Amino acid sequence: MVSNRLIPERLTQADLSALIKLNESVISSAPPGYIRPKSEADLAAIVTGGSGAAFCIRSQGELVAAALLTYPPPQVAGLPLFPRVPPEQWLDGAAFFDGAVVRPDMRGQGLQRALFDTRLAYARTQGRRWFCAGVHAGNVVSWSNLIRKRLAIVGMAFFYGYPLFALLRAEDADAVATDGPSRLVDPYDLAGHERALGAGMLGVDLLDGQIVYRRAVRADTIGQSVIRNVAHPERASSAASA
Ligand SMILES: CC(C)(COP(=O)(O)OP(=O)(O)OC[C@H]1O[C@@H](n2cnc3c(N)ncnc32)[C@H](O)[C@@H]1OP(=O)(O)O)[C@@H](O)C(=O)NCCC(=O)NCCS
Repeated sequence: MVSNRLIPERLTQADLSALIKLNESVISSAPPGYIRPKSEADLAAIVTGGSGAAFCIRSQGELVAAALLTYPPPQVAGLPLFPRVPPEQWLDGAAFFDGAVVRPDMRGQGLQRALFDTRLAYARTQGRRWFCAGVHAGNVVSWSNLIRKRLAIVGMAFFYGYPLFALLRAEDADAVATDGPSRLVDPYDLAGHERALGAGMLGVDLLDGQIVYRRAVRADTIGQSVIRNVAHPERASSAASA
């Protein structure tokens, strides 16, 4: 539970150097592939609202957590892992939950989830309806948080060699609706995830440390759920972390 003193706020240009510092220190201690580094220019463009928005939480005047909302870059018409997003809604309708970083001594207090709520509310004010994230399959804390925020695992990629879950929440809940019997998959059983996704199932819930997969009602995207060797740089930077 986030205490009253730890309230997310929009990050401004005055915070840019603190954001860069927090990012660097979290990235340098995180396992490889958990969070994709962003250049200072990319961060500046997001903070100033050019390509998204940045949010933060402060404690005792210091930046202790931050997270980004980014929009699909115009040169990328759509991502193969998100075929459920209609192509004509991609550019103006999709948003990525990207780059969440929490200072190690502040973790486990719900800050990532609080920053998710703030970003979701902001994204809606910008007319965004498709909420996407790409999370390293080993980053159990991060993707568990997103599943608890009603994003579904809709695909998987091998991203510069790292296994990555693609997660999606849609304003139109039918797009990720599921039914039928469930299948439990151990978080670390990557072949099990591939099988479930390849069979047209989505990872929609958590149960005793396992991911609950159910059959997607809209099965029109079966066969595009597991992508091998994503190596396109623009796509790569858009499918980064939550
Ligand atoms: C991932 C990260 C952003 C999470 O931030 P956070 O503010 O600690 O997250 P929250 O407090 O919202 O949620 C943590 C939850 O995971 C649980 N958790 C903690 N360690 C866990 C573990 N090893 N396995 C499973 N769950 C765990 C906590 O108990 C908490 O759940 P609870 O609220 O029900 O108790 C933070 O750990 C971080 O900065 N990691 C490095 C960078 C990174 O990986 N960013 C995300 C990229 S996708």
